[in-house]
Amino acid sequence: MSNQILKGKNGIIFGALDEKSIAWKVAELSNQEGANLILTNAPIALRMGTINKLSESINAPIIPADATSMDDLTQLYSSALNHFSGKIDFVLHSIGMSVNVRKGKPYYNQNYDWTKKGMDVSAMSFHKTIKAAWDLDALNEYASILGLSYIAAQRVFNSYNDMADNKALLESIARSFGYHYGLKKNVRINTISQSPTLTTAGSGVSGFDGFYRFANDLSPLGNASAEDCAKYCITLFSDYTRKVTMQNLFHDGGFSSMGMSDKVMENYTKSLK
Ligand code: NAI
Repeated sequence: MSNQILKGKNGIIFGALDEKSIAWKVAELSNQEGANLILTNAPIALRMGTINKLSESINAPIIPADATSMDDLTQLYSSALNHFSGKIDFVLHSIGMSVNVRKGKPYYNQNYDWTKKGMDVSAMSFHKTIKAAWDLDALNEYASILGLSYIAAQRVFNSYNDMADNKALLESIARSFGYHYGLKKNVRINTISQSPTLTTAGSGVSGFDGFYRFANDLSPLGNASAEDCAKYCITLFSDYTRKVTMQNLFHDGGFSSMGMSDKVMENYTKSLK
């Protein structure tokens, strides 16, 4: 059921690791909607994941790039400009990682070298991704850049740890760079704040299952899946959202507006009996 709303557009998708990745679903749907794509990921992820399968199925080349390296990013955009014989219309930054989370260091006792690494990968890389495109003037007018965030940027979810700070910075970069790129070339920059989603990055957070079920029970529409997220991304890449910029957009089945639901209350009361 395709509407071809991205017909003829050129896009770069960061972060498809395996079939569960949000970026994987976004790539598949963008392809169905008529976009020409380039896939990219860190060299190590290309060895560990299954991105080749995606590349073949949607006929999109893979160009490796570590999103923390300006050299890699510049190389990526240069190759993309050649490959497309034209400029780029949308970019998805779907990248996140915290060494403190992975290694079980609590928020109040971080290893600051790991904190720096996680911030570089999860947030600064968003700035670099935008800056590399800016320097090469690689984007078309009204191009759309999207990052993926989580509500721990605004509220405390204890086990999300230093990723909460990374997401707060990511959302701030969307606003600040959104101003400059908007003025320069009408480029839109937004973040989507997505429900907990069953992916490699998601399930790395301790207690993720409880997290996931609680959010599902609290949200009137239930959690948004990776496929749902892909649909929302498509709208934001399309020409139907040309004046949406510098926003953090909640895509969470209503979670962010909730305080208490019947379902959560029922479970909580049951556990007290
Ligand atoms: P994922 O593990 O499939 O994707 C994360 C990607 O980041 C991987 O492809 C990984 O190779 C890539 N990456 C890590 N370091 C990199 C580097 N230096 N350079 C380039 N790429 C690098 O997991 P998922 O869940 O699809 O994550 C995508 C985005 O969605 C992340 O920003 C994540 O924080 C965000 N998000 C995820 C939620 C979840 O519950 N899964 C909820 C809300 C947001």
